[in-house]
Amino acid sequence: MTAVTKALRGRMVHITSTRPLGWEYLDDGVLILTDGKVSDLRPAQQLEQAGFDLTTCESLADGLLLPGFIDTHVHSPQIDVIGSYGEQLLDWLNRYTFPAEIRFADEAYAETAAADFLDGLLRAGTTTAAVYVTSHKSATEKLFQAAYDRGMRLIAGKVLMDQNAPDELLDSAGNGIEDSRELIEQWHGRGRLGYAITPRFAGSSTSAQLSAAGRLHRDYPDTWVQTHLSENHSEIEWVRGLHPESDHYLGIYDDHGLLTPKSIFGHCLHLSDEEVLRMADAGGKVAFCPSSNLFLGSGLLDIDRYIDQGIDIGLATDVGAGTSLSMLRTMADAYKVCQLQGRSLSPMEALSLATLAAAETLGLASQIGNFEKGKEADLVLLEPVPNSLLARRIGQVSDIEEELFLYLTLGDESVVSKTLVAGNTAWESH
Ligand code: GUN
Ligand code: ZN
Repeated sequence: MTAVTKALRGRMVHITSTRPLGWEYLDDGVLILTDGKVSDLRPAQQLEQAGFDLTTCESLADGLLLPGFIDTHVHSPQIDVIGSYGEQLLDWLNRYTFPAEIRFADEAYAETAAADFLDGLLRAGTTTAAVYVTSHKSATEKLFQAAYDRGMRLIAGKVLMDQNAPDELLDSAGNGIEDSRELIEQWHGRGRLGYAITPRFAGSSTSAQLSAAGRLHRDYPDTWVQTHLSENHSEIEWVRGLHPESDHYLGIYDDHGLLTPKSIFGHCLHLSDEEVLRMADAGGKVAFCPSSNLFLGSGLLDIDRYIDQGIDIGLATDVGAGTSLSMLRTMADAYKVCQLQGRSLSPMEALSLATLAAAETLGLASQIGNFEKGKEADLVLLEPVPNSLLARRIGQVSDIEEELFLYLTLGDESVVSKTLVAGNTAWESH
């Protein structure tokens, strides 16, 4: 079969390394895509000197090309609870979230919502996400099928819950695991899809279910594990009372075989030093959810506690506690969360948290996260809305860092002009 090649010419920026942070900006670059992967990246002039015909390139015009964004923790059914007023975590779950998730027993509803959710990600420039579905197997299948149809690299899992939720959402230590096993067999490794074993959190899983989830992960060690950890003070106290045999919150997961380098823990706001050290030792990963943490009043993550220990940390929207699917808006919230702690998050650090560092957090850095040769061509093209305040401010910048900072401070879905998945256009604004 002949290789399908496409050449994009224009301004582009990506993160080249996370430790130490490195980045590359080309003000007139050519990114060559072959069979949905990056096959070359070079300054246009250099390519022309090598005999390349630049007239074959597709122009990016005034846009700025970035690697597609990676959301390391998001709930697909919670597009229906975004912007729900007035509660903190546990009351927010009971009052808004669980009732909304019950609706996903209806397969037709789940199918439409899966399409709306994934199209929402693509519109926001997000090409990969680690997704919690509901406890329904059928709703999880609908999401996998919709991601498969769009060619997206997606990690997802059926939520496991066998206590402390409405009856309609509860599975059991046995059938929740059997459903998960069948979903793994059917979807894990199919196309660009991966399975995450997803005990929602230690508040809604018995010790029996957590142990069974740990055994399932041992049976399928290349699946992921995703769960919530140490988000809210009332939650922490309650969860510790439910699992008194463990030394601390992280210890609950650890004691059940759920703390491995494939484990992604959402929030991690109030961990003790002992828990952070254990996380570092075991290779666990952190999903940083600044928008959600501000919205539910959960707390401010000190990212340097994790970075200093060599723990991988990626950015996440955590919709619907997070208030936007846009990783640009989430980067803006990350900046503000850091500012409140006297720490300025640089625009390149923010970009890293949403691309290469996020890919490392998900263990996918050999496939996605930047423009390195051989990586999958998941890309987002940003462009300011004509005559907007962002367009005005971008007209005044003197370097790429300033420009990127404006995109993340003032940008959202409206600045995403195109999203490519494996080299194919998956969303275009006009
Ligand atoms: N903890 C357990 N479930 C959830 C959830 O759906 N959202 C958030 N933010 N925290 C949780
Ligand atoms: Zn969450």
